[in-house]
Amino acid sequence: MESRFKLKNSFSTGALCLVFVLAGNIILAQNKAEIAPAPPMGWNSWNCFRTNINEENIKSIADAMVSTGMKDAGYQYIVIDDGWMTNNRDKNGHIIVDTIKFPHGIKPVADYIHSLGLKFGIYSSPGCFTCQKLMGSLGHEQTDANDYSAWGVDYLKYDHCNYPKTAEEMKNTSEADCRAAFELMRDCLKKTGRPILYSVHDVCTRVNGENTREHALPWVRSVANMHRTSDDIKDNWDRMLYCLESTVDLWEYAGPGYWNDPDMLEVGNTTKERLWGGISPVKMVLHEYQTHFSMWCIVAAPLISGNDLRSMTPEITSILTNKEVIAVNQDPLGKQGRRIRDDGEPEVWAKELSGKKYAVALLNRSSSPVDITVNWKELGFKGKLKVRDLWLHKDLGKFSNSFTGKNIPGHVAMVILIN
Ligand code: GAL
Repeated sequence: MESRFKLKNSFSTGALCLVFVLAGNIILAQNKAEIAPAPPMGWNSWNCFRTNINEENIKSIADAMVSTGMKDAGYQYIVIDDGWMTNNRDKNGHIIVDTIKFPHGIKPVADYIHSLGLKFGIYSSPGCFTCQKLMGSLGHEQTDANDYSAWGVDYLKYDHCNYPKTAEEMKNTSEADCRAAFELMRDCLKKTGRPILYSVHDVCTRVNGENTREHALPWVRSVANMHRTSDDIKDNWDRMLYCLESTVDLWEYAGPGYWNDPDMLEVGNTTKERLWGGISPVKMVLHEYQTHFSMWCIVAAPLISGNDLRSMTPEITSILTNKEVIAVNQDPLGKQGRRIRDDGEPEVWAKELSGKKYAVALLNRSSSPVDITVNWKELGFKGKLKVRDLWLHKDLGKFSNSFTGKNIPGHVAMVILIN
């Protein structure tokens, strides 16, 4: 009798624990989904400024985010990347901000950004040093998280560099170590009580020279709101495609609360950047930028612009603020689009949307014009369906069984809405 009672008792304790664990997971999932219900949209300083950031240029970028219509189009975050800090801490363990760049510290910058109705993001590394050998968070995670919270940070980009101390040591980091480093900062952010979007770049799973970023899935989606899937993007057609490819097989992980991140946008980046690793120095041209933007929208990638918003041409502004294409990216169903057909250089990509709609990108990767067809049965549809061109903002009519984009120029993606 006693043992039956014990058994029953331990069953109910077990069941109770399970309920707590499940409830905990649900709460965790809810919090994550509240912070990033759709792919985050914003601007980051790295692609155009590298470490040449300061209070003035960040504030003027925030002004431009509003005056150019970017804010109205949905962009929210202004994120300061690497370079805002020195390589030292004060005697209480707080990171010393670079006061040549930010003479009043970080909080006034965050306050200014908030006063414009925008949100503010910052950058750090779980290692001793950031990628630019400035102060990282290792051993001071809670202090840093508390400072972020006190400054009004809404977004943290946590970039796995120099962990624990050098790039060389990082190559030998185990996956468990890496995971623990990212979980630690997640927990520290949580303890501050401030909702802070958590964007991570984990390169620590490159074990024995093998690129195993994918091995971090699925754990990383329970830790972060977005996770880099590629090495750094460059303003270059082939490099952009490499970043796009890095997300292709990861669609099942994406959804409200977690997004695959093939890196920030290069649309309209006019800076002369360093190129390395045999990448050709040829920058993208206007229609390639449009294709880059289209594909980031189709794969539900975070839309983090990286150009100088203060000097955008009207053509670049109209790419970055195309509300119909952005609506595809931000659709509440939260599905990442998939490549449904690969005919060599012509490809068909489809993103399921709410309301029984599909967005389709007819992507011509070649340099000469081609016709590309999407068949309704590939989407699970039949009959006559309406087609709208989201770049021309034009209804193209009703089509039975399929639609063919005719003469799609080289390096162009035609983006259509089908329902
Ligand atoms: C790289 C990262 C870039 C940028 C840079 C800063 O690791 O991929 O996006 O953040 O570090 O040093």
